[in-house]
Amino acid sequence: MKEVAVIGFGMTKFGELWNKSIKDIFVEASLGAIDNAGVDHIDSIYVGAMSSGIFVGQEHLGAVMSDYLGMNPVPSTRVESACASGGISFRQAYLDVASGNSEIVLAAGVEKMNDGADVTAALATAADQEYEVYNGVTFPGLYAMIANAHMHEYKTTRKQLAAVAVKNHSNGANNPNAQFRNIITVDQVLNSTLVADPLRLLDCSPVTDGGAAVILCSMDIAKKFTDTPVKVVVSTQASDTISLYERETFTTLKAVSKAAEKAYKQANLKPENVDLAELHDCFTISEIVVSEDLGFFEKGCGGPAVEEGKTSIEGGEIPINTSGGLKSKGHPVGATGIAQIIELYEQLTGQAGKRQVKNAHIGLAQNMGGSGASCTINILEAV
Ligand code: COA
Repeated sequence: MKEVAVIGFGMTKFGELWNKSIKDIFVEASLGAIDNAGVDHIDSIYVGAMSSGIFVGQEHLGAVMSDYLGMNPVPSTRVESACASGGISFRQAYLDVASGNSEIVLAAGVEKMNDGADVTAALATAADQEYEVYNGVTFPGLYAMIANAHMHEYKTTRKQLAAVAVKNHSNGANNPNAQFRNIITVDQVLNSTLVADPLRLLDCSPVTDGGAAVILCSMDIAKKFTDTPVKVVVSTQASDTISLYERETFTTLKAVSKAAEKAYKQANLKPENVDLAELHDCFTISEIVVSEDLGFFEKGCGGPAVEEGKTSIEGGEIPINTSGGLKSKGHPVGATGIAQIIELYEQLTGQAGKRQVKNAHIGLAQNMGGSGASCTINILEAV
């Protein structure tokens, strides 16, 4: 396998982009990445997108996007794994370069969720239709079950869930591309509208339009384009049951722990070697569970860790979601995994401004689909 580097990025602002089509959003992010990396051609394209057919009535996104980007006849492939579509698009691009098949690859993700579709029903297509959705379960509902189980088993508190949202909004306030840049308090979270008990409005990631793109190339040629390439140390993926009811426990996401185990082993790293992480906080409880399943904290200690500032940028042991996470930056589902990689790239190249983590050398991105049935982990390193 060849060594692979990330050499540039581009993204749109995340939010409600009423005046832009899904094609405009994709092209803006991709041209930004091509320009930022300074490459003169692309060998292949990966497009992460979850439900463009339902959200905007457009499928066949690989071909649509290479065409609209003016890149024909470059091979272009759409990657779908629900909310992990972006992260797995990055992984496919990584494997393409690592195998020696392509030299320079565009890995992108896009979603336009605000266009009139029934978003809750569209997102629910990532759950088990027969056993979960038919019985009325939604994604806030599934994660509420996980939250209730975690609160019962480990005495995780409502305030600890709120602390995740407060931290992520505080980080997102310094991210110009974030959807919600307002500072919030624990009281505001606790008094926001109830969505699915115990999760409230400010525990939820929002409905977002947005696109994100990065350029990968073999490490052999990376220095031709930039003095600060970022190495992809490892990229792993794992799967779990699609339905929650089939799992031994609701409080551990097995696809996360399995993908992490493999990543640490392949990279010869331990959780304590990671300097910062972008985690899939689609709901506040998911950041807590995932921070435990990645080995950053013992089971049951993820909630107290957030409250004690262990995941904060200033003075934290392991700053988590410095970008603002899905909660504040927004969650255009197909683009999220790529936006996580962009945050790591900015941090590892010292470009994160007020969000900068001191001495950031190794970063981990964890992106998952549904209630954790698919998960990818990508670890990046400054070289
Ligand atoms: N965080 C902060 N503010 C939010 C928000 C969020 N997640 N979602 C909406 N808002 C704000 C809006 O900006 C709006 O503010 P305004 O009145 O000042 O303009 C207000 O709350 C109401 O917005 P609205 O769009 O009517 O909310 P909604 O009730 O339709 O949707 C949720 C709220 C939580 C149901 C929706 O954001 C949601 O479904 N989130 C989860 C998405 C999801 O499941 N993703 C996949 C995860 S696996």
